[in-house]
Amino acid sequence: MTNNSISNLDRQSLFHPFTSVADLMRDGPLVIAEGQGVRVRDAQGNEYLDGMAGLWCVNLGYGRTEITEAIAAQSRKLAYFHAFNGMSTDVAAECAAALLERAPVKMARVFFGVSGSDANETQLKLIWYYNNLLGRPRKKKILTRWSGYHGSGVATGSLTGLPGMHANFDMPLGPFIHLPRPHHYRDAPAGMDEREFSRHLARELEQVIAREGADTIAAMFAEPVMGAGGLIPPPEGYFDEIVPILRKHDILLVADEVVTGFGRLGTYWGSQSYGFEPDLITAAKGVTSGYFPMSVCYVSPKLWDVFESESTRAGLFGHGYTYSAHPVGAAAALATLRLIDTDGVVANVSQLGPHLQRSMREAVGKHPLVGEVRGKGFMLGIELVRDRATKESFPKEALVGRRLLKKLLGMGLITRALGDTLVFAPPLTIGRKDLDLLVSTFAEGLDAIAREIA
Ligand SMILES: Cc1ncc(COP(=O)(O)O)c(C=O)c1O
Repeated sequence: MTNNSISNLDRQSLFHPFTSVADLMRDGPLVIAEGQGVRVRDAQGNEYLDGMAGLWCVNLGYGRTEITEAIAAQSRKLAYFHAFNGMSTDVAAECAAALLERAPVKMARVFFGVSGSDANETQLKLIWYYNNLLGRPRKKKILTRWSGYHGSGVATGSLTGLPGMHANFDMPLGPFIHLPRPHHYRDAPAGMDEREFSRHLARELEQVIAREGADTIAAMFAEPVMGAGGLIPPPEGYFDEIVPILRKHDILLVADEVVTGFGRLGTYWGSQSYGFEPDLITAAKGVTSGYFPMSVCYVSPKLWDVFESESTRAGLFGHGYTYSAHPVGAAAALATLRLIDTDGVVANVSQLGPHLQRSMREAVGKHPLVGEVRGKGFMLGIELVRDRATKESFPKEALVGRRLLKKLLGMGLITRALGDTLVFAPPLTIGRKDLDLLVSTFAEGLDAIAREIA
């Protein structure tokens, strides 16, 4: 089939997620045909450095035969069986045990799903289930943060703090309380340093708990570094301030590690980068390096003990998905976890992450269009502004971030524009040379856009 006919077929048939229908009808899709290492090729043969590892998921790069062979072998042996009604498979059990071994804190069980969204839906239900079993029917509200991203279901989209995802969908629904985002560059009062801003946010958290009543608040969800909401690392001391407050009020902490799990910040888990201990952890994406849809909910002994001891009274655990504990997904995950262990992937990020952050800062940190370069490990964001001194943003309609994204695509570099913040989250296997190429290509593209704007 020719490129044109694929493009037309797509335009006439495929309803794309997170895409403007009007833009797609005008521009058509970019059809990616193959990938190897940190690069992909489009249907016309143009090569791109994938600065986003797909959607921050292809952590081990493309074409890893260790994973594809594991998928093929498991598909041949047993392509599907479920885990309802006490059924299981050898790989699903092994995968669960392997994941428990790699947990950052002692965890009791893992529950499998197929996406970050469904995993966070499961977490919400586990939290409500837990409080119902404990006879605390009022303790149900969920704290979350503006600019947080936790999925696109009705509950997880509501939990998400992005107004653009609420508009036109009659959301947010449910007992979700959105706290201020921990965005020092944008939201800290003038002259307030990061440490003080963290204390300020902690005081606001205390006020919300006092207003709502701790007996009505069940949990708080947080990404260690906010991803899709604009790549926002927490200000210094943020988790040190808020975690003790949550503990004091018996509010569970869910670390949404869908992006940060499995090495992206230079530690195996994002929560380890910030030294806090979650009660529940959500993971997905990197667990199979994006090779198979799979998600993981880690459940701590605190919750599991209640689930176990109340089980006879509660009856059947009435939740799950057809593809929970999918054997092919489990085989993909086991192969991925082994590669993470043997390939020095986490060490690569801990060594090269600071280099990436520093070299992007050196290359564009003082550029007239750059307000802030921020990030940690292999999560990097560059926020574009019209005026560095006042931090004034470009008008939305100017679509400056989108224009730069397209310019970079033309130069063979894939990025993602979250509004006017351009983000990078390359495969964790990328080397220094390609990171340097990523930075120099970005700087060149930025200069080109600056000239066009001038
Ligand atoms: C932190 C976080 N949580 C949840 C999700 C939702 O995952 P999925 O798109 O697999 O449903 C994402 C997706 O990017 C995410 O970044």
